[in-house]
Amino acid sequence: MATIRLGDTAPDFTAQTTEGKINLYDYLGDGWGVLFSHPSDYTPVCTTELGTVAKYKDEFAKRNTKVLALSVDGLESHKGWINDINETQNVNVDYPIIADEDKKIAEAYDMIHPNADATFTVRSVYVIGPDKKIKLIITYPASTGRNFDELLRVIDSLQLTAYHKVATPANWKHGDEVVISPAVSNEDAKNIFTKGFKEVKPYLRLTPQPNLD
Ligand code: BEZ
Repeated sequence: MATIRLGDTAPDFTAQTTEGKINLYDYLGDGWGVLFSHPSDYTPVCTTELGTVAKYKDEFAKRNTKVLALSVDGLESHKGWINDINETQNVNVDYPIIADEDKKIAEAYDMIHPNADATFTVRSVYVIGPDKKIKLIITYPASTGRNFDELLRVIDSLQLTAYHKVATPANWKHGDEVVISPAVSNEDAKNIFTKGFKEVKPYLRLTPQPNLD
């Protein structure tokens, strides 16, 4: 059984999806990606989750992030279920849902947790960076639908901290103050963070979010 951890290279694959045959790396190009698994088609929590992701299409696009869903059900099942999702959630699902019937992708990404369920994928989320490295892993059980606002919040943090020498504190959201990375000296901080910073403790320095006007 594969393990997959933060910083690992995301396993590439070519798969049958509801949007045709897709190669992961080609599909993502130079952008960011979210690959998320769900246990089963035609189930209530999954129906609301896939509907929510369709509603957030513009939010993912703003973040240069493409999404792919995955379950071990087949293509015909996915296609029929999309009609139900569109009808009941008032959306248009037009992102790919992978039909991973042979479970090859689920195994490569460690999406089946046998002590939870021997057959179906759990609710895993992987955020993949432009360098094709795994930036985030979140795993929920089948009984708990995910919070996609939280996923967007974390993508905001990942994208900010990838390009600036900052980290984001507890419950941070876009626009809030951030903390300066410990590796940056006060001397350097004065030059880098032109909006200034507050030194609460030598290791806790707050500054306005740097990529805002
Ligand atoms: C659901 O999506 O509702 C679900 C799927 C598998 C197990 C439990 C709930």
